[in-house]
Amino acid sequence: MDRASALAAALAARGGPRLPGVEWPVSIDSTSNRLKELARGGAPEWTVVLADVQTAGRGREGRTWVSPPGGLYLSVLLRPRFEKVGLLPLAAGVAVAEATGDLGVRTELKWPNDVLASGRKLAGILSEAASGPAGVEWVALGVGVNLSFDAARLPPEMQDGVTSLAEEGVADVSVDAVAAAVLARLAVCCDALRSSPSAVVSAWRSHAAAWWGSLVDVRAGEAPLRGRLLEVDDEGALVLELESGTRRRLFSGEVTRVRRAAR
Ligand code: BTN
Repeated sequence: MDRASALAAALAARGGPRLPGVEWPVSIDSTSNRLKELARGGAPEWTVVLADVQTAGRGREGRTWVSPPGGLYLSVLLRPRFEKVGLLPLAAGVAVAEATGDLGVRTELKWPNDVLASGRKLAGILSEAASGPAGVEWVALGVGVNLSFDAARLPPEMQDGVTSLAEEGVADVSVDAVAAAVLARLAVCCDALRSSPSAVVSAWRSHAAAWWGSLVDVRAGEAPLRGRLLEVDDEGALVLELESGTRRRLFSGEVTRVRRAAR
């Protein structure tokens, strides 16, 4: 059986969605770049692109996603027909946290959707959307999960903050098993977004790192904002109380904790 068929079979065994198309080259610049090309050409929902290595993997906020062998690099196309499309990035975080939980790793979510294990980054999600006159036409969700790669091969500045399933005690898990777990959980979260979006936000909160009340910096655009992290609201926005006392709702950005909440 080839790898794409093994993935489709693993997904069917979990009751997941049927995949209309799977591309799985050994190496690619970015699975999300390729998926976006397919999306613009009219590819159907749940089209998937995977690769063993990415030469120009992209992260959130314009960062590079270093993508050596030993990681899952997957992008999946969604054509959402529900109202709360803005919650998809959070839903994807829930799906990946639950999928890695299924594999036996305890994870926490850092807003919007960084998946942490032992306080270090295990997985990340890049959500890119295209809109037309009728609203969002498609969303390319890119998921990177560190499976087994050697952190010592990463750039020195990344080595401290990164972990992998192997480092968390889950060795010998196949890429297609992790991909199937992520896609199956994602399908459940997409159904929930349609029927009960508030349940997705509740699920997100239940997986969240307990940074409530902490002083954080949020980099969203140029100037970082510093404030107390109050909550993630029902629209998925991060609510900060700035040092001036003003409240700010943020819809994207990178959060760093400066100081824990006073007890
Ligand atoms: C982040 O910054 O945390 C998001 C990282 C997303 C990486 C994945 S790997 C598969 C897909 N292809 C990319 O180029 N990026 C995403």
